[in-house]
Amino acid sequence: PIGPDWRRGCTDATAMDDDHPVKSVQCCPPEHTKIIDFELPRVQKIRHRPAAHLVDCNYVYKFELAMERMKALPDDDPRSFKQQAKIHCAYCNEAYFQTRPPRDGPDQKLRIHFSWLFFPFHRMYLYFYERILGDLIGDPDFVMPFWNWDSPCGMAMPEIYADPCSVLYDKLRNDDHRPPNLVDLNDGLDANELKKQGIIFDNLSKTDQIRSNLCLMYRQMVSNGNKPTSFHGKKYRAGCRSALDDECKPEPGGGTIENGAHIAVHKFVGSKRSPDSPYNEDMGNFYSAGRDPLFYAHHANVDRMWNIWRTLPGKDRRDFRDRDWLNSSFLFYDEKKNLVRAKVRQFLDIEKLGYDYQKVDIPWLESKP
Ligand code: C2O
Repeated sequence: PIGPDWRRGCTDATAMDDDHPVKSVQCCPPEHTKIIDFELPRVQKIRHRPAAHLVDCNYVYKFELAMERMKALPDDDPRSFKQQAKIHCAYCNEAYFQTRPPRDGPDQKLRIHFSWLFFPFHRMYLYFYERILGDLIGDPDFVMPFWNWDSPCGMAMPEIYADPCSVLYDKLRNDDHRPPNLVDLNDGLDANELKKQGIIFDNLSKTDQIRSNLCLMYRQMVSNGNKPTSFHGKKYRAGCRSALDDECKPEPGGGTIENGAHIAVHKFVGSKRSPDSPYNEDMGNFYSAGRDPLFYAHHANVDRMWNIWRTLPGKDRRDFRDRDWLNSSFLFYDEKKNLVRAKVRQFLDIEKLGYDYQKVDIPWLESKP
């Protein structure tokens, strides 16, 4: 199973522009030698992550206070906003080696995108992030919000992130895409096929944009995401004997949501290219995406999609049972600054982790193209 080789340390990461390396970035966490195994929390009640466009003023106050405290931590504190942002960069941009292959197979760096690691890695990342935020305000029940981009009223950037005076704001975003502009969940991949079905994309009116987004959601979640590999992404294993083996290459291929709505939202939020943002920082490039507070709300909705997907009918709509997947592991600092090793198998059921999502309508379920 895949995991970072902590003993071999962390190296500089490589920022990419499309498929080309463009610069190296330092994304390593503070050093630490003792690793403890993650244990599931004792769950007394389920906490519900709210939709970001529906939260009230008390919630926003608490959330902003927590973010403010996270941003105020010293840079070398593993719980600080900067260090937390680097986690994404390190795991995405090859800062770690994979645990050494058992036979003398080729040495590999680790990447968590565009494979079956996508959903579980990001779920863990958010889980520890949320616990840190809760701890910083002394509220063990704290939950982070999700950006409900799969529903008409959630399709613009949530207002709470768009206020330039808020700690939730990030100036490296595309100004043309502030609210009330709606996100376009089509990232180009699906366009041709949809055109054939008579769904046109250019200069959409607001209602057409909503309809188009809902159809895309239906396709990504229902018609095309009907198998574990098509939804989660392709298999990615450690310890293959040959570099030619397809299942051990990094980024073998993402699933419908990762490739579709997920990427589309990253591109929608990230800045246009400029001297301050040559590579579409922050959200528009993986190495910098974690620097935008909106990243975590975006990924909470991605996480919610995984959770919804498991409840849709279809006998193949269930998680892998492959041991290589279940035992893949990643390291995170928890709210007490312990370095924790978490395994995919511990992160399949969100109720066991103590959270769920606010129930909101799921209009794309009725949006068969
Ligand atoms: Cu790790 Cu949305 O990317």
